[in-house]
Amino acid sequence: MRFGENFLDEVKARTRVSDVVGRHVKLKRQGREFAGLSPFTNEKTPSFFVNDEKGFYHCFSSGKHGDGISFLMEVEGLSFPEAVEALAGMAGMEMPKSDPQAERRAARNKATISWMERAQEFFEKSLYRADGAEARDYLKGRGLTQTAAKNFGMGYAPNNFSALKDELIAQGATDAQLIEAGLLVEPDDRSRGSWDRFRNRIMFPIHDTRGRLVAFGGRAMEKDAKAKYLNSPETPIFSKGRLLYNYHRARKALAAPQKSARGMIVAEGYMDVIALSRAGFEHTVAPMGTALTEDQLDLLWRAGPEPILCFDGDKAGLRAAYRSIERALPLIKPGQSLRFALLPEGQDPDDLIKAKGAQAMQTILENAIPLVDMLWQREAEAETLDTPEAKAGLKARIFNALNEITHDDVKALYRTELLARFDAAFGWKAQRNYGRQRNDERKADKLATKAAGQSLAQNSRREATLIGAIILFPELLTLVDERLFELEFTDPVCIRLQRGVLSYVRVTKAVEKSSLYAHMVTEGLEQDVKALSQRRALINAAMGGASAELSDKAAIWNTEADALSGQHQPDEISHETRSRFAETIRSDNADALKRLKRAALKARD
Ligand code: UTP
Ligand code: MN
Repeated sequence: MRFGENFLDEVKARTRVSDVVGRHVKLKRQGREFAGLSPFTNEKTPSFFVNDEKGFYHCFSSGKHGDGISFLMEVEGLSFPEAVEALAGMAGMEMPKSDPQAERRAARNKATISWMERAQEFFEKSLYRADGAEARDYLKGRGLTQTAAKNFGMGYAPNNFSALKDELIAQGATDAQLIEAGLLVEPDDRSRGSWDRFRNRIMFPIHDTRGRLVAFGGRAMEKDAKAKYLNSPETPIFSKGRLLYNYHRARKALAAPQKSARGMIVAEGYMDVIALSRAGFEHTVAPMGTALTEDQLDLLWRAGPEPILCFDGDKAGLRAAYRSIERALPLIKPGQSLRFALLPEGQDPDDLIKAKGAQAMQTILENAIPLVDMLWQREAEAETLDTPEAKAGLKARIFNALNEITHDDVKALYRTELLARFDAAFGWKAQRNYGRQRNDERKADKLATKAAGQSLAQNSRREATLIGAIILFPELLTLVDERLFELEFTDPVCIRLQRGVLSYVRVTKAVEKSSLYAHMVTEGLEQDVKALSQRRALINAAMGGASAELSDKAAIWNTEADALSGQHQPDEISHETRSRFAETIRSDNADALKRLKRAALKARD
């Protein structure tokens, strides 16, 4: 909604900033001003001032400054129109009237929403009644407490075609209203009546950005149900591509002064959102079974500059991550980007938190990959890069991706960055004959060549690949065993990391990425791991990409190791080598770990 200037001025004139602020901050009068503790920091002495005459607040500890509207936007996480509406409400002012048709629509939607609320009450009650026993057990089995279920308004739709319908019709609803709300399914022919859409399902209420209940998601109780999750259909109040599950709570959580996150966390499912919220990541949302839309990205960026998208680390997860890159590229600009957190294969945040706790999730979020890395990985992994044609193909894909970026400065910087990576990965020298490059592309190429000159020399690049591959893919440890400890590295970072891995192998019971990372941190090697992570994409590409089989990675690794120890120059990996490693990996992992430990102990002496 657009507001006229007169209306805005009047809203501001009729509300005192101190009243608005006073709802959140205890204010004390000091002469013409009010003072209090900053709501933006955790300060002990007041450095937050409100001046009603001038109509603003100023916070010396955070540097924030604004009027009543911006205060509500900051502190309550409201959007601009919402803040204006809230202030107008405080001043007892009517909002500007829209046209009569819109008025009627608004009234009708209001009624629909109130039926959704009644439905939610009914579902919630049903969960705690006798026929909800199985549903309660189910939730308990998934580790959900009653408090958590209450906080998220969860309920149960009885296994019955008219339980909800009977209840709401008795409360005065009409059939048409409940169909419009998506609560009942309308038959194709008129020979029979409508029936309850949600049956024998755990119900998740879905709210719009302002916290109004507009839809439900229902999870089937039976294992073999046709649809595991069933959502409300598109209705006048619900459009699933324009909302995010839990957005209204997440936005408040993110706006809280003690939260330092740079954006929301985006999970894939309702249960993930609930698990993450309970683990202390209350600023989590999820789309409703679809890839992120532009509207949803906009919602995320309204709440913070750099949301983190979580994906399963398997192929489907990567594909989903790549799809969101596609959506995001045309929209990125300064202060508007993404990060990607890839979870261990086959696990979603709910599984991970249950298995490893909140700390493991925290580690994964802290290591979330910037968009530029993910983009590089996507392009570099699209095919094996073993021929000039394939490398040229990569370069063409990079330029295609760059063309998607609309913001000029960001585009130019991505170009520089990606070309530098290309050059560093393939020892590429400016090929004067490569197509008909435009002038600016040529300039970028020069920059890229310079950046590559600053990159590691051939040998220490190989060392970084060898040790980096282990840190990126610790499963390799069980395949490469003593070779790793025999390698004589020269680069100090690589030497330190090699020692770290060695001591990890001595203490570990099972090789895992998160525990290896944690071990390196306790060994004081976090900076070294981080330094290496900057080359993550290169290492990944050198090892055949994230989707390469582990046995292939091991074969590549051994070839690189041979080259480092000067045995012979790397060349094509023979089929023999491949199948030897394929064989090894099929053998028992525990044995491999034992062998590995023996090697580690030997290496120490
Ligand atoms: P998942 O299949 O990953 O389920 O779907 P989940 O979230 O891990 O669920 P649990 O742990 O088995 O209960 C992720 C999301 O995709 C949507 C839902 O929004 C779900 O939360 N989805 C999934 C559907 O809309 N329909 C389906 O049939 C399945
Ligand atoms: Mn799950």
